[in-house]
Amino acid sequence: MEHTRIKDLLKSEEFDKEVIVKGWVRTFRNNQFIAINDGSSVNNIQAVVDFENTEEALLKRITTGAAVRVKGQLVESLGKGQRVEIKVNELTILGDSDPEKYPLQPKKHSLEFLREIAHLRFRTGTFNAIFKVRNALAFAVHKFFNERDFTYMHTPIITGSDAEGAGEMFQVTTLDLNNPPRTESGEIDFKEDFFGKPTNLTVSGQLEGELAAMALGNIYTFGPTFRAENSNTTRHLAEFWMIEPEMAFYELDDNMDLAEDLLKYVIKYALDTCPEEIELLNNRLLEEEKSKPQNQRAEMGLIEKLNFVVENNFERVTYTDAIEILKRSKPNQKKQFKYLIDEWGADLQSEHERYLVEKHYKKPVILTDYPREIKSFYMKQNEPDAQGRHTVRAMDILFPGIGEMVGGSQREENLDKLLTRMAEVGIPEEEMDWFLDTRRFGSAPHAGFGVGFERLVLFVTGMTNIRDVIPFPRTPKNAEF
Ligand code: 4AD
Ligand code: MG
Repeated sequence: MEHTRIKDLLKSEEFDKEVIVKGWVRTFRNNQFIAINDGSSVNNIQAVVDFENTEEALLKRITTGAAVRVKGQLVESLGKGQRVEIKVNELTILGDSDPEKYPLQPKKHSLEFLREIAHLRFRTGTFNAIFKVRNALAFAVHKFFNERDFTYMHTPIITGSDAEGAGEMFQVTTLDLNNPPRTESGEIDFKEDFFGKPTNLTVSGQLEGELAAMALGNIYTFGPTFRAENSNTTRHLAEFWMIEPEMAFYELDDNMDLAEDLLKYVIKYALDTCPEEIELLNNRLLEEEKSKPQNQRAEMGLIEKLNFVVENNFERVTYTDAIEILKRSKPNQKKQFKYLIDEWGADLQSEHERYLVEKHYKKPVILTDYPREIKSFYMKQNEPDAQGRHTVRAMDILFPGIGEMVGGSQREENLDKLLTRMAEVGIPEEEMDWFLDTRRFGSAPHAGFGVGFERLVLFVTGMTNIRDVIPFPRTPKNAEF
C-alpha cells in the first residue's frame, strides 16, 4: 500500500518524511487548506496547497466530498488545534464531487436532515464517531463473554415460534399471498409453503438459547431481532440487535450481577478504546446544551456520565417498592410528566421509568419481581405475596435517558407450572414440545436476559434518537436501502 492512514500520521513524529494520503475532502479554505478525512480517525489532516503554482482548473476540483490523493511532506503545523499537516507536492483528484449537487455542504447539518440522506451521513464526523463506538461495543461484548467461557450460539432468524408471545412478528412465506393455496375450509394452506408451516422473523433468540444453555452451560447470542410493532418512537426499531446470554444454574441475583458486569465492562471498553470519538460526541452535546436554558441543562457531560455508570452500583428494587415510590411522587408542576401510577399491576410507562432513574435514584436501576400478568409466560413464578398477588422473577434494567435497556428473568423450570401458565395465556403445548423437553428431562434453574444493543449504543454515544445509532434503521415505512 502506498498510502498511510491519517490516524497514524496525526500521531507521527517523522517530520519532513514524504507521505501519501488518500481520502475525501471535508473542507477547502482560502484556496489553500484542505481538510482530508479517510475514515481512520474522526479527525482530519490538513493539507496545504501551494495555490500559486497549482493550475486554477485543478483547484476548482478540490470540493467537499471529492476523493483525493495527496503526496507531500509531513510538517509541523502552526495552525491551532493540529500538530501536523502535509505540504502538498502532488495532488490528484480520484473522484469529483459536484459542489452544486452534493447534499453535504461544509457546515453543520441537523440530525433530522442527515437522517433524510442516511446513505451519505457516514461521511460526517459525528456518524464516524457513532459507528466506531458501535463497533467497539460489539467487540467488547464478544470479549466479555469469551473471557468468561461463554459459547457464542447462532440462533435462527427464521423461526416457527414466538418467543415473547406478544405476536409482534413479521411473517416469512414463499407463498404468493395474492393467490395463496387454500385448504378445503378456505384457509391459507401453509403445507404448500417452503417450511410447510407459518414462520416469522425471530423476536428473540432466547428459547433456542435455553435449549443450548441446558447442555452447554453458559451461552450467548448476538444477532438481529425483529418486532413488527408500529411504534414511531426514538427508542424502537423494527430491526434491532440483541445480546442474549442464557446461563444454566443461574438464579435472579446471578443474572443481575452478570448484566451489571457486562454493561460496565463494555462501557469502560468504549471509554478506553474510543477516546477521540467519545470526546467528539461529548463536545457535540456540550454545544447542544449551550442553547438550552441553564435549568434544563444536563447535570453531567457524556464522559462524566459514562464514568459514573462504570464506577457506581446499580440500584436494585422490586416492582412493588417502585410502585410505592411512584405513588408518593408529585406530578411535575408544568404537567410535563404525570408520574402518578395508582394501581399495583399496571405496566410502567416510560415516564415512570424515567422518574425512577432520572429523578429518584439518579442512576441505573434494576427493577425486579414484576406482576406475572404483564410479563412473558416463561418467567419463574414467585410464591404469591401476603395479599395473594402473583409476581415473577423478572428483571428490567432502566438507564437514565434511555428507559429499558435490558429485559430478563430467571426461567420457570417447573414443567407443571410452565404448562399451566402457557394454557392461561393460550400457547398450545404441541407447538412448544421441543422447548418443554428442557423441563421434562433434567430441568434445572437457569436465567438470562436481553440487552437492546442500539439502546446501549444510544447511551454510550449520548445520542437521543435510535435511528442515529444503527447504520440502516428499519422503522415503519422506512426500508429504502
Ligand atoms: O424485553 P425484551 O422484549 O426481552 C426479550 O426479548 C427477552 N427474550 C430477552 C431475554 O431474556 N433473553 O427485549 C430485550 C431488550 C429490551 O430491554 C430493549 O432494550 C430491547 O431489547 N428492545 C428493543 N430495542 C429496539 N427496538 C425495539 N423495538 C425493541 N424491543 C426491545
Ligand atoms: Mg422488555
